[in-house]
Amino acid sequence: MLRTFATVAMILTVLAFFAGAAMAHDYVGSDKCKMCHKGEAKGNVWEIWENGPHAKAYQTLVAKGDGSEKNPACVNCHVTGFGKPTGFSLEGEANTALAGVGCESCHGPGADYRPMSVMKDHEKALAAGLIVPDAETCKQCHNEASPTFKGFNYEEWWAKIKHPAE
Ligand code: HEC
Ligand code: HEC
Ligand code: HEC
Ligand code: HEC
Repeated sequence: MLRTFATVAMILTVLAFFAGAAMAHDYVGSDKCKMCHKGEAKGNVWEIWENGPHAKAYQTLVAKGDGSEKNPACVNCHVTGFGKPTGFSLEGEANTALAGVGCESCHGPGADYRPMSVMKDHEKALAAGLIVPDAETCKQCHNEASPTFKGFNYEEWWAKIKHPAE
């Protein structure tokens, strides 16, 4: 009896592991973060991003006027979640909510961590897909594959876009 129970428990653990590994979180777009992260009292997190370099990264491609915004080799680093199932895609309607380097480019797709009850609990938020970004996160885009790359220093570059919550 006890043995059967142990076997069942083990099978369930293995199943839960695979379900967890396969579970992908959906992208929602930076607008969905705005209501809780804008304004003086919240450190102007949203405003700092909106007025910074990342929000306009897709617009930079459009402004070139040579169709770079349709070139996957450019779009890759200038939008949010390119190539991911619910990320920015060049097919169909232009998904403007994910154009540019949004919050989720660094913090991970937010559908499951954005509810207040999850956001307030650091461990729960991490389990729901929240990423605490570091230099490696930046280097996914700030690397030699960028045609305009001139080097990257985390401390200096983070200082230009930092957004403390209070
Ligand atoms: C319903 C309100 C709400 C929404 C929507 C929301 N947040 Fe939050 N978020 C919070 C609150 C409240 C905290 C502060 C938690 C604390 O310190 O108690 C927080 C904290 C965070 C943190 C720090 C969390 C940690 O544990 O280190 C990050 C990063 C973050 N939010 C990113 C986002 C992103 C990206 C989105 C959009 C995808 C988003 N949030 C949407 C309310 C929200
Ligand atoms: C998804 C790709 C991506 C990620 C991840 C990313 N960046 Fe960027 N970053 C860009 C792009 C693209 C630009 C250029 C935007 C433009 O000018 O249109 C840029 C521009 C910048 C700039 C402005 C540079 C200048 O010449 O003024 C700073 C500073 C910066 N990023 C810092 C960071 C830091 C720090 C991180 C990590 C915490 C990071 N970035 C993560 C894509 C990314
Ligand atoms: C590997 C990621 C990556 C790819 C691929 C990429 N970019 Fe960028 N782009 C960046 C980053 C990061 C920046 C910020 C400046 C820097 O460090 O290169 C940037 C900045 C820019 C800028 C504004 C800054 C400047 O100095 O003019 C333009 C314009 C630009 N990219 C165009 C393009 C075009 C066109 C392509 C495709 C041929 C492309 N990018 C492909 C990451 C990338
Ligand atoms: C280019 C990458 C990048 C983008 C884009 C970005 N963040 Fe962050 N964010 C970071 C990094 C790096 C940290 C600091 C992580 C750490 O070391 O604690 C951070 C920290 C935070 C924190 C915690 C601040 C604190 O004082 O604890 C919040 C909240 C947050 N980000 C929300 C957002 C929201 C909302 C957006 C979009 C409007 C956004 N971030 C866009 C990289 C980014």
